[in-house]
Amino acid sequence: MMAFMSTSKGAALVTGGARRIGAAIALALAQHGYDVALHFHTSVEPAQRTAKEITGLGRRCRVFRCDLNDHDETAALIPSVREQFPRLNVLVNNASVFEPATLRATGRDLFERHFNIHFRAPFFLTQAFAEGCSAGQVINILDTRVRASDPRHAAYTLSKKALLELTRMAARELGPAIRVNGVAPGMILPPPGGVVDELERRSAGLPLKRIGDTANVVAAVLFLIDNPFVTGECVYVDGGEHL
Ligand SMILES: NC(=O)c1ccc[n+]([C@@H]2O[C@H](COP(=O)([O-])OP(=O)(O)OC[C@H]3O[C@@H](n4cnc5c(N)ncnc54)[C@H](OP(=O)(O)O)[C@@H]3O)[C@@H](O)[C@H]2O)c1
Repeated sequence: MMAFMSTSKGAALVTGGARRIGAAIALALAQHGYDVALHFHTSVEPAQRTAKEITGLGRRCRVFRCDLNDHDETAALIPSVREQFPRLNVLVNNASVFEPATLRATGRDLFERHFNIHFRAPFFLTQAFAEGCSAGQVINILDTRVRASDPRHAAYTLSKKALLELTRMAARELGPAIRVNGVAPGMILPPPGGVVDELERRSAGLPLKRIGDTANVVAAVLFLIDNPFVTGECVYVDGGEHL
């Protein structure tokens, strides 16, 4: 049975929200009182399942397909979300690719895919979001690698570093109407198709000696959403890896 639907706090667009960390963030925002514009690219059925869970919580949800590697599709996303959700006031840039390649091994396509999805799309989504938004916030999902230089994932790491700088710059330009913050996860989920054992083995080297879970990332997102005096911040959810 559908839960009681109270007035929403607004609407949140979550990119890459069909599954894994993005779905956990979308569900938490729904539980927190936001209607959800759920973006996906290829995960049609997972997106529909997550949307159904959100509506089961008593919030509105619509799914939006968009290839964030394509600039024209990206530019059309916020206007079509606003048609359905005129009270859009949260943007979570979560969508990601994670393809290993050193600087020497990085081809143009891999380079562009990472920078388009992690930097160009959040840049122009933030710009479109800010237009006509009198009070809202942006959360960028980063990676603890922004504090180091991981040469095995050159384009991934550099594009997330660029997103951290965008977080700070946008926080300065868009305040006081809009707060912009980042969450930098560490070892949470193995990449799709990967195994958790490998993460658990590597986590022995962390100060907290364990991997995290999606709830830890969600808690940081909700902290940033709820704290009206924090902007331009990056919260590391990584068991101390950035140290
Ligand atoms: N997993 C971790 O432990 C970890 C660690 C550090 C940082 N992070 C960060 O946390 C966030 C979530 O991580 P995750 O592991 O849950 O992410 P993920 O599963 O690797 O990717 C999230 C979503 O990004 C979407 N995406 C990929 N290419 C796209 C494209 N061309 N256009 C539009 N969407 C596209 C996919 O949507 P579809 O499935 O619909 O195609 C995918 O479901 C990411 O920003 C990641 O960098 C994660």
